[in-house]
Amino acid sequence: MIDSRAMNAAPNTTRLAEYERFPYTVESVDLTFDLHPSETHVRQISTWRKIIPGVTSLELNGKDLKRISIKIDGELVDESRLVEIDESLLIRQVPDAFTLEVVTQISPEANTALEGLYLSNGMFCTQCEAEGFRRITYYPDRPDVMSIFTTRIIADPGYPVLLSNGNLISENQMEDGRREAVWQDPFPKPCYLFALVGGDLAVERDNFVTMSGREIDLRIYVEKKDLNRVRYALESLKRAMKWDENVYGREYDLDIFMIVAVSHFNMGAMENKGLNIFNSSCVLASPDAATDQAFQRIEAIVAHEYFHNWSGNRVTCRDWFQLSLKEGFTVFRDSEFSADTNSRAVKRIQDVNFLRSAQFTEDAGPTAHPVQPLEYQEISNFYTLTIYEKGAEVVRMIRTLLGPELFRQGSDLYFDRYDGQAVTIQEFVGAMADVSGRDFRQFMRWYEQPGTPRLRVYMSHGSATGKLTIQFDQKAPVIAETDSHEPYLIPISYQLIDRESGQILVPETLFELSEMSTTVTHENVTGVPVISLLRGLSAPVRLEMTRPVADLIALARFDDDGVSRWDAIQDLYIQSIGQLLKDPTSPVDQALIDLVCELIRDPQMEQDPACLAEMLALPQDNILWDVFQPADPQAILSARKHLRQALADGASKYWKILFETMMPEGPYQPEASAIGRRSLAVTALAYLAKIEPVDTILEDLFTNASNLTERFAAYRIARSDAAPELSDALSQKFLDGADTDEVLDLWLSTEATNERTATIERVRELTEHERFEWTNPNRVRAVLGAFANRNVEAFYSADGYRMLADSVLKLDAMNPQIAARLVMPLCQWARFGPSYQDKIKSELRRIIGRKLSKDLVEIVSKSID
Ligand code: BES
Ligand code: ZN
Repeated sequence: MIDSRAMNAAPNTTRLAEYERFPYTVESVDLTFDLHPSETHVRQISTWRKIIPGVTSLELNGKDLKRISIKIDGELVDESRLVEIDESLLIRQVPDAFTLEVVTQISPEANTALEGLYLSNGMFCTQCEAEGFRRITYYPDRPDVMSIFTTRIIADPGYPVLLSNGNLISENQMEDGRREAVWQDPFPKPCYLFALVGGDLAVERDNFVTMSGREIDLRIYVEKKDLNRVRYALESLKRAMKWDENVYGREYDLDIFMIVAVSHFNMGAMENKGLNIFNSSCVLASPDAATDQAFQRIEAIVAHEYFHNWSGNRVTCRDWFQLSLKEGFTVFRDSEFSADTNSRAVKRIQDVNFLRSAQFTEDAGPTAHPVQPLEYQEISNFYTLTIYEKGAEVVRMIRTLLGPELFRQGSDLYFDRYDGQAVTIQEFVGAMADVSGRDFRQFMRWYEQPGTPRLRVYMSHGSATGKLTIQFDQKAPVIAETDSHEPYLIPISYQLIDRESGQILVPETLFELSEMSTTVTHENVTGVPVISLLRGLSAPVRLEMTRPVADLIALARFDDDGVSRWDAIQDLYIQSIGQLLKDPTSPVDQALIDLVCELIRDPQMEQDPACLAEMLALPQDNILWDVFQPADPQAILSARKHLRQALADGASKYWKILFETMMPEGPYQPEASAIGRRSLAVTALAYLAKIEPVDTILEDLFTNASNLTERFAAYRIARSDAAPELSDALSQKFLDGADTDEVLDLWLSTEATNERTATIERVRELTEHERFEWTNPNRVRAVLGAFANRNVEAFYSADGYRMLADSVLKLDAMNPQIAARLVMPLCQWARFGPSYQDKIKSELRRIIGRKLSKDLVEIVSKSID
């Protein structure tokens, strides 16, 4: 076998500018899998036709394959005609049209990278996106080569369920006792959408009648122990199917749609045609084994992968530089589905918070890249927040500029025009341009330029004349100040309200800023105008202005846009933390405390408890580290704790009553209004715990809870605030009750992050826990991911960095994708003060000194030379 790990010195770069069409079409691909844990044989028979004259050789991809035989038109190809370098196999002197037969041998049980064909708890499964198919057979592993796949699977009777894409053609018992199933997918697809599953699985079934009256067979396959936790995903699937018909006019195309849950999975889920494969944590839910947040995530991911059937599968990507074509668009689609299904305002606040705290950070750091990148070394490293979240924001702006009707027409045209094709982002935007007659040339910079543009706004108001001038200035992203940078087209939604009464002075207006600076004026503006800016976050920009406290208070009290209200109070929290950083003994502004009390009392807020819960949550570290540069994480942590205590004290008379009145009674319902109430109740309880002992309440809540959300909240709050005996007791009870991996992961991550017991020693202990598994990404994320991303106190120390670096090195030998993600927090060293930087950099240098996967080399070497 070939060593899969490249030497650090020779990273290959793939460039968008060097795209060339593949010189052959593949008319059909027949695959036969003889499944065996250590010796699986794969026979590929495919038919090829040359489409570019003059070409005489065929270039295929392959990785970690044992080549058994290669035949062309039935004749063995002599070794002298084969050249294998890295991940490519060149076959020389091939005819213009021919049949290829390739037999390879692979070892699923040795595959810990979880790409290609592997075993998860004894179940065979595949993950081919982006470049995993090359670990199965020699093939052009690129999305623009589309073909019709037929898959024959042969396995021992211990694997009774044998699945692949498309329709089941035949199933039979063979003479040697083994079983065989044949599947055919009538839709041409790239190999990254190929999937296969073999195992002893249980199934839950349902059906869906489409808009044209076709009945679709729906199935979710899981390990037998999990069958009682699939109903919610199945119901979510039906809601998503209906929504895509209603909102996008998209109907499902095959007669069967299957989801399989697997325990070992690098990502959340994968949209293989007709056979989605899911990380079990993203499908399995029941009231006592999933939190409200897990229910909502499951609904969103089921929808996301289903929506890919059109935005990704029927119309796919020409090359991986177009990744955001399917991911950005599909994230936009799933977020709108969640907004329509749950609470629009809350969903938008959560998305905006995630974008700002995580994507803006990426955009300002060493791995910043455009939504349409120009080059990459390892494509797995480009499944980023920029491709996904910023990509979704860019699609959202297109809809804002076009309006919903034209946007839908553009989407219809796109699907219609490119059905069955592999296309580019430019073709997507071209369809939007064609239906609207709009010129998108300047807009395309959102796809082309990296970094987050900044916006400054200056207002002047003549109280006598009523004339209001607003000057909008855009500034280049910080990382681009030295690069060439062209102005963006920024859709700015704004409104003016009166500072005292909240009355709307100028109704919502959409202004398209296309210059570096533009001034707009409004006449006859009375009162004291306060501007509500970037409503709903109308563009993914950073607002760079220090807004007067009185203005922010007015926005938080009166604004009718949820994001803008939430953003105003977040800004007040930030300002207040800034004060505390300057003088840790300074008192928190009483006006802020009064505001919080007023919001809690506000009857309108009572109707949207989830929004209030979001407004009571303090800004995350990432956001604060951005504002207070260079960041001192430990100092920021104590300032944030100080503010939290001041709010807890300042609004002390409300917490208990909020907790008691908000917690929903009756049977558990994972729907928006109950989730919102629970989230506010838990937030209130956490504040209450800061001002008085709540041990009895916690014990009670833990024991009597009808659902995991409440039980988990009781345990979590006990871990930070209860008497040590109760804290330890609830931790032990929570673990004792953790009879699923998902609940175990909640325990692991809480133990790895809580403010009182999660020391580095404790984290190390968790990695030695009998239920911890280095080869399971969910366990690794629960302990080490949580530690590095959410345990500031322990992680931001020399021992913390060393612990993470050691783990990254250990993981890199097993699963490079997971190692490359886990190392990211170290790569953000430049944001921190000098005393932090040196220690982090020395760990990075230690990593780079080893022989690493190309995934890890690319990430680490971008952050340190
Ligand atoms: N196509 C991706 C899954 C994927 C990503 C496979 C990278 C291989 C490499 C899938 O559609 C996806 O985007 N999944 C997300 C969840 C989604 C809700 C954003 C994931 O897995 O995190
Ligand atoms: Zn996706």
